[in-house]
Amino acid sequence: MSAILDEIHRRKTFAIISHPDAGKTTLTEKFLLYGGAIQTAGAVKSNKIKKSATSDFMEIEKQRGISVATSVMTFEYQNTLINLLDTPGHKDFAEDTYRTLTAVDSVILVVDCVKGVEMQTERLMEVCRMRNTPVIVFINKMDRDGKDPFDLLDELEQKLFIKVRPLSWPIGGGKLFKGVYNLYDHRLNLFRASSTKVEEEFVSIDNLNDAELDKQIGEHDAEKLREDVELIDGVYETFDEAKYKTGEIAPVFFGSGVNNFGVRELLETFIRIAPSPRGRNTDTRVVQPTEEKMTGFIFKIHANIDPNHRSRIAFLRVCSGKFERNKFFYHTRLKKELRFSNPVTFMASDKNIVEDAYPGDVIGMNDTGNFKIGDTLTEGEQMYFKGIPSFSPEIFKEMVNTDPMKTKQLEKGIRQLTEEGVAQLFTVHTTQAKIIGTVGELQFEVIQYRLLHEYGASCQFKPLQYYKACWLTSDNTAKLTEFIRTKSNYIAFDKDDKPVFLASSEWILRLTQQDYPEIHFHLTSEFNRDEVVA
Ligand code: G4P
Repeated sequence: MSAILDEIHRRKTFAIISHPDAGKTTLTEKFLLYGGAIQTAGAVKSNKIKKSATSDFMEIEKQRGISVATSVMTFEYQNTLINLLDTPGHKDFAEDTYRTLTAVDSVILVVDCVKGVEMQTERLMEVCRMRNTPVIVFINKMDRDGKDPFDLLDELEQKLFIKVRPLSWPIGGGKLFKGVYNLYDHRLNLFRASSTKVEEEFVSIDNLNDAELDKQIGEHDAEKLREDVELIDGVYETFDEAKYKTGEIAPVFFGSGVNNFGVRELLETFIRIAPSPRGRNTDTRVVQPTEEKMTGFIFKIHANIDPNHRSRIAFLRVCSGKFERNKFFYHTRLKKELRFSNPVTFMASDKNIVEDAYPGDVIGMNDTGNFKIGDTLTEGEQMYFKGIPSFSPEIFKEMVNTDPMKTKQLEKGIRQLTEEGVAQLFTVHTTQAKIIGTVGELQFEVIQYRLLHEYGASCQFKPLQYYKACWLTSDNTAKLTEFIRTKSNYIAFDKDDKPVFLASSEWILRLTQQDYPEIHFHLTSEFNRDEVVA
């Protein structure tokens, strides 16, 4: 058992999140270089989808193909086994990212010092907050003229609703960037622009009044640093690791990914403070990683759209016990035993069969249609892992069948695609209309193409002017039934047959909430946080 405990404690499973172009790919690559998982820069294919390609989804699918290979990047650093889960950069695939965040134990958030906190980052942080995911912030591109660091910290706190605590502090910025002072280790790290893997230059300065500081960075910058540090110590409370682990406070680092500056410092702090796998909620109880029996859940399904190599890979996050190849596990939704002969891990372009996996690990399993996102595997216990919600889509269209001879294929196709998480499907009971909801326009193209090529079915989409889909609950069942009946024109049912209210505008939603105080409206399909629309 203690061998398993060691395996759990040395694992850290996380994701790097950022607005596109902030530097996620660059940072990932530097981490992999440190971990020895790749030898040369450029080895990680960017899964970034070029903005120009928004109407060319085949190109995007190709990129997605690449991103399967980088779905989970495992590397070791200082005897810590790190599972880095990749998240798609393109905003139309934001939902994939939200789901991936349910499978990690912490995140590193990359912010561009020139642009500050951007829209997509706000949404991603919302998901982290829902689960109290610990966050470390890396403010990148310090070699460029960016915003004032104090302003950046304020922006992080105001836009991301999280308390921050700088653990390093920049000296100058842009062309005048001299380095950072590590407030935790009391070390001055001097900046030398370099994209290769080099040791940074460190000078230990315990006391900022040491004349060595003036010698290293000049009197003017030394004085400014002393003032800044005094201000930081006055304004921000001392860093409390326990509060970081509960997601209350985010330590902040400054650096430059492309110059490999501040990256090692970030990685080493990550190793020191980031949590190993912890207990996770299910519908019946909390499962601890140290439990003997294997449990895990599916958080992502990837389908290869090439009709010649049609296959699906379901990604399982192991939560407790030990996953073993060829052992039978219990699929709690289908209530049947399944075993997996070819579970794989991915690294760069290599696919390796795994014999066993431990809590924190993610494995890919070939799937012939057994899995839906959120499915749970156990050794017999009936339970579901919680925390894999659906979010209200932002674009809604009605699917119109254009080939009545292929109705069955269309139904099967759309069911399977929505199970993969490509989009959400809502059905209007009264008319049997099928409403597809997504976060981006791109998914409609993907759906149309895949329905035709994989299922031989064709359809068109009729735009619908809805603002949000709100899942409905009420303590008063009679009132809820009454509401559903009265508003039947605006009610549809999700994949689990849960009712949603399709609100045409924010204003209508507010009004409806006022009119029906006993009905709760939720923007996610999981209500443990009881997120009621304002
Ligand atoms: P992403 O995955 O978050 O989308 O960002 P990515 O790492 O691809 O970085 C986006 C751009 O920012 C890249 O330039 C990258 O070289 C640059 N970059 C990353 N870190 C830094 C940094 O610390 N300083 C500066 N000045 N730039 C940085 P690109 O021109 O879009 O691509 P490339 O041709 O350089 O790869």
